[in-house]
Amino acid sequence: MIKTQICDMLEIDYPIVQAAMGPFDTKDLAIAVASAGGFGMVSHPAPRLEDGLFEAIQNEDAKQKAIENVKEHMMAAICEVGEKAQGSFGVNFRVAPEQPDVPFLLDALLEERDRNSNLQKKLKMVLCSAGDPTQLHLKKIQEAGMLRFHTVPSVYHAKKAEKSGVDGLIVTGYEAGGHVAYEPIHTFVAVPEVVKEVNVPVIGGGGVCDGKGLVAMLAFGALGIYVGTRFIVTKECEFNDKVKEEIIAASIKFPKKAATIVTQGVYGPLRHLKNKYSLELFELTQKMQRGEISMMDVLLFETEGTYRAKGPEGNIEDGAIWAGQASLRIHEMLTCKELISEIMNEAKQIMNNFAKTYV
Ligand SMILES: Cc1cc2nc3c(=O)[nH]c(=O)nc-3n(C[C@H](O)[C@H](O)[C@H](O)COP(=O)(O)O)c2cc1C
Repeated sequence: MIKTQICDMLEIDYPIVQAAMGPFDTKDLAIAVASAGGFGMVSHPAPRLEDGLFEAIQNEDAKQKAIENVKEHMMAAICEVGEKAQGSFGVNFRVAPEQPDVPFLLDALLEERDRNSNLQKKLKMVLCSAGDPTQLHLKKIQEAGMLRFHTVPSVYHAKKAEKSGVDGLIVTGYEAGGHVAYEPIHTFVAVPEVVKEVNVPVIGGGGVCDGKGLVAMLAFGALGIYVGTRFIVTKECEFNDKVKEEIIAASIKFPKKAATIVTQGVYGPLRHLKNKYSLELFELTQKMQRGEISMMDVLLFETEGTYRAKGPEGNIEDGAIWAGQASLRIHEMLTCKELISEIMNEAKQIMNNFAKTYV
């Protein structure tokens, strides 16, 4: 049995936490992960172009309307996961200054939790990321009886979050899919160093996709793993199947090269699988930095492509495929239950072999 303090804190069987993958929906994935004994995560949506994203940037009424749409979408997902998951789960809020919706979402979440017994039972944690952990309204999470975790990329950020009173930290290194830190500190360095420097429980991720990764994180002193890209390639994940096939094909398509590229875009560094879209976004960002095109040109290109691949269109060349370096190590589609049991079995086997071989 590999049980850690995280299993007790989050009330889960296995120390495996599904990563937040907004602005895409991960409610089906969260239900499957939570029901298989891991910790599921509902992701934070964002206003889409068709919901008036550009108007919302320029006009206060449109902004409030966009916030209402996001709130409705996210609360429906949270309630569905609360109803269907046979285990516990969390909710992610990106708390960056560009996210004016968080105080509204948090109030809506707390009101719903007050009247919804499923959420009282199963919604254990709010995971904040991509912003300042000292924002006062975040204290409401713990006042309501939930755990507050924060995602950090470095010792500096970890200490700041610890000082703000978080219950635990998720540490993700530069291998991770999606948004990564401006400074490229890798998981192999970030996780053990944060564990050494803080006194709160740490979960490690970024490039972790199997039992070997779990053993490595435990060796670094983390109490569990945080897994995004590997969970995309599961039967229950609601991303388009073509995206899953692209991740599986990555090691064949890129035998000698990295399969992913970090673009700067408008919202900061973002790790994608290499395709026509991400290579073009990389070029456009450089043009913007040289003053040849405007930020709005890049924003339009970036947001127009965000849902094209992962959504129903499944356009894997002209759409964003946010994925981590672990794409090179993912070779088959599994159910969440199969994946979790494969990770746990592999980790146990490695630990048993170590005990026999090295003592
Ligand atoms: C498609 C995708 C979307 C993501 N969106 C978010 C997000 O909304 N909030 C967040 O904190 N992190 C987000 N991330 C980062 C993940 O939570 C996590 O750090 C990362 O997936 C871990 O590395 P891995 O992909 O190698 O497992 C996203 C990652 C991916 C792949």
